[in-house]
Amino acid sequence: MDITQLSLSFSDVFGEPAQHIAFAPGRVNLIGEYTDFNGGHVFPCALGMGTYVLAAPRADRAVHAVSLNFPDSGVVCFDLDGLCFDPARHWVNYPAGVFAEFMHIGASLPHGVNLLFAGDLPNGTGLSSSASIEVATAVLLREMFNVQQSQTELALLAQRAENRFNGMNCGIMDQFASAMGRANHAILLNTADLSHEYVPLDLGEAYVLLIANTNKQRALAESKYNQRRAECEAALADLRAVPSLHGLRALCELDSADFARYADVVVDPLARQRARHVVDDNARTLAAVKVLRAGDIQAFGQLLNASHVSLRDDFAVTGEHLDALVQAAWDSGAVGARMTGAGFGGCAVMVVRADEVVDFKHRVSAQYHAQTALEPTFYEVIVGAGARMLDLPNSSELTGNIK
Ligand code: GLA
Repeated sequence: MDITQLSLSFSDVFGEPAQHIAFAPGRVNLIGEYTDFNGGHVFPCALGMGTYVLAAPRADRAVHAVSLNFPDSGVVCFDLDGLCFDPARHWVNYPAGVFAEFMHIGASLPHGVNLLFAGDLPNGTGLSSSASIEVATAVLLREMFNVQQSQTELALLAQRAENRFNGMNCGIMDQFASAMGRANHAILLNTADLSHEYVPLDLGEAYVLLIANTNKQRALAESKYNQRRAECEAALADLRAVPSLHGLRALCELDSADFARYADVVVDPLARQRARHVVDDNARTLAAVKVLRAGDIQAFGQLLNASHVSLRDDFAVTGEHLDALVQAAWDSGAVGARMTGAGFGGCAVMVVRADEVVDFKHRVSAQYHAQTALEPTFYEVIVGAGARMLDLPNSSELTGNIK
């Protein structure tokens, strides 16, 4: 992303220079899906792609926000006082939620802000474009209003903005990965207590990691996501009725063998399937990190495949397009492939032999297109660092650029 160009766009829109710029990355989750609100493990990494936000203070208490990614929305305005969710505000509800949460923790926001957003993540494809908007806003506001919050606290604040303001009951994975990412590393995060380890994402010379976008926009993802969460909660409630499980705080406190022993007490068969996926994917995540550390990429790939099958058959969040894309990857010789993120469309992640990548992409595209009439888009995974403030070009650089 050309920051000089973004600065010029800011001046064009607001008639004054930007004073701050923050960046927060998107993420790709390698394995551990829908485990993050069940006290389990996830294994995401932050991407090089993400959201940039430029800002300058205003004299009044209004926020004016514009995004180069949503030019049709124009400049959207809201007031800091009496702030609440407004469907007409579209994407601006994400930064608005972050403002609301800063006020909720008692931060003093004495004036409003002009904001310009721009991102290089494809929107709404399971790579956490919304979390990156929230976390970029959070890092920016911490700096502008001098609020004492750690990166982890900002991730939690951004999650609350999504849960409470936007009504999406997501877990902590996306905001945590965006805030806490490290270049060339994936994060093994235990969502039960936020303890985490950075694991070098080293597949060796022979393999590459690809993201493939179905280019099928996710449909009804939020309502189905909240429904899956409710199903997991129903399973947990049934399990807790067993005297020896009274103290169970989350599904992932059970291992697969324990769950198999008690599964029958979960009354609703769908809730039972959802819980089985969660418990098994937690185990697969820990196993995947172990084999990756040992350099066993074939075993890592097998675990990705098993995760997809479980998300397809037990958790039912893959859908026709993701299944077609992942099946095409399997048929074309992927070492491992699975959907990533919330599913219902969006992206898949794949481990492919480096010397077969070009051929692989052609074969996958042809098979996927034959089945869905859509073309997938491939991205190489570049694992970047977490959210941070950046430097703006100085004014002479800007004037130089205009000349
Ligand atoms: C979305 C949510 C995350 C997580 C994943 C599924 O990305 O925001 O919290 O639950 O789905 O693993």
